[in-house]
Amino acid sequence: MSGLVVAMDGPSGSGKSSASRGVARALGLRYLDTGAMYRAVTWWMLQRGVNLEDAAGIAARSAEPALAMGTDPDAPGVTVDGVDVSGPIRGAEVTGAVSAVSAVPEVRRRLVALQREIIAESLPGGGIVVEGRDIGTVVAPDAPVKIYLTASADARAQRRTAELDGTTVEAQKAAMARRDSIDSTRKADPLAKAADAVELDTTPLDLDEVIAEVLRLVKERV
Ligand code: DC
Repeated sequence: MSGLVVAMDGPSGSGKSSASRGVARALGLRYLDTGAMYRAVTWWMLQRGVNLEDAAGIAARSAEPALAMGTDPDAPGVTVDGVDVSGPIRGAEVTGAVSAVSAVPEVRRRLVALQREIIAESLPGGGIVVEGRDIGTVVAPDAPVKIYLTASADARAQRRTAELDGTTVEAQKAAMARRDSIDSTRKADPLAKAADAVELDTTPLDLDEVIAEVLRLVKERV
């Protein structure tokens, strides 16, 4: 089996999603948003009334939600137990709770296994661009192209504020700092740059420039 895996990691607001979809589109590859998987499991836990302060309780139910991930970069839907949750997983409730759920090792083990299956299925068709926090370090450590996107705290908060309704740059900055701290200090697969990843600071770049730079790196490495 041959196929290209492009690992795109970085904190929220670094421009990962738009860039990953743009790169997948340009190269005719599939696209996987692993953050959407953690969000979908979080949505399910909230729906079932699972206490999110109880890691053992989350772990005990982590195998129950049945996820189906769309991998079309133009329409990457996500369903849980047959329900389309593409909208609700972007809401404030899920966003505020997802770090607690994604810190639970049993949740990660299950989702990482699912991510590897989706990656393997994509390879005969050419490959996949996978975005997340631990793709280059844990999910696909052999990916030939690994990019670690960063941006200044102000740029990240401004981008997120533009995507959401009813929030301010200051509120987003505070919420992101809180999530980054949980995501990068948790014991299980923390947000980290792989030793062999190329770091790309997107602060001064617009989306087309980020995509062009990633495509240049792909050409250079493959
Ligand atoms: O990229 P995002 O904001 O949709 O991610 C949602 C949360 O999921 C984020 O707080 C970190 C977590 N996450 C993770 O732990 N591992 C991944 N591979 C992707 C996301």
